[in-house]
Amino acid sequence: MHKGIAIYPGSFDPPTNGHLDLIERGAKIFEELVVAILRNSEKSPMFSVAERLEMLKELTASLRNVRIDTFDGLMVEYAKSLDATCILRGIRAISDYEYELQMALMNRKLEPTLETVFMMPADKYSYVSSRLVREVAQAGGPVKGLVPEVVEQKLREKLDPAYKLRNARLIEVLGKRDLDRREKKRKKKA
Ligand code: PNS
Repeated sequence: MHKGIAIYPGSFDPPTNGHLDLIERGAKIFEELVVAILRNSEKSPMFSVAERLEMLKELTASLRNVRIDTFDGLMVEYAKSLDATCILRGIRAISDYEYELQMALMNRKLEPTLETVFMMPADKYSYVSSRLVREVAQAGGPVKGLVPEVVEQKLREKLDPAYKLRNARLIEVLGKRDLDRREKKRKKKA
């Protein structure tokens, strides 16, 4: 296990099974892994930083050496503020390589003591990206197996506010316990 802190920075909009796979792999080789969500992204995100933070916290709750944080500005400055020694990034396919290489070399230029480490997620996630997940979900397609269940649920709520309202009404009428029972039955059938 590598001593010290590694940072896994990204947008995580939303977190996918590929991200989670990489976090689990990273947690096995780094003493401490900080998953860092970029706050000042230019893109207009689907999920707020607070929503992404909450999802990632829930998804990594069982990983003792992983914590979730947010950052602004230059990633290397944030890394320095934590005394981190490594940056973790995932490479799924050759197409990722060019962008990742450019970013790694720019970060090295900015802070030569920080080392970028690349890891590959499981091949079954090699085509999964947050952008495609958003696209498929927005078009009403299924994202089961591409994102964790909690993210699937949040996507459903985000894209169909009526779903959240229906759920809230059902909770009112049935009570939480009955709803959990119905959900379990539904999952068993699926
Ligand atoms: O998940 P993403 O969108 O591919 O992550 C990109 C991210 C957040 C790692 C990158 O844009 C970043 O580090 N931004 C912070 C600003 C910065 O340091 N830019 C110089 C990087 S070469």
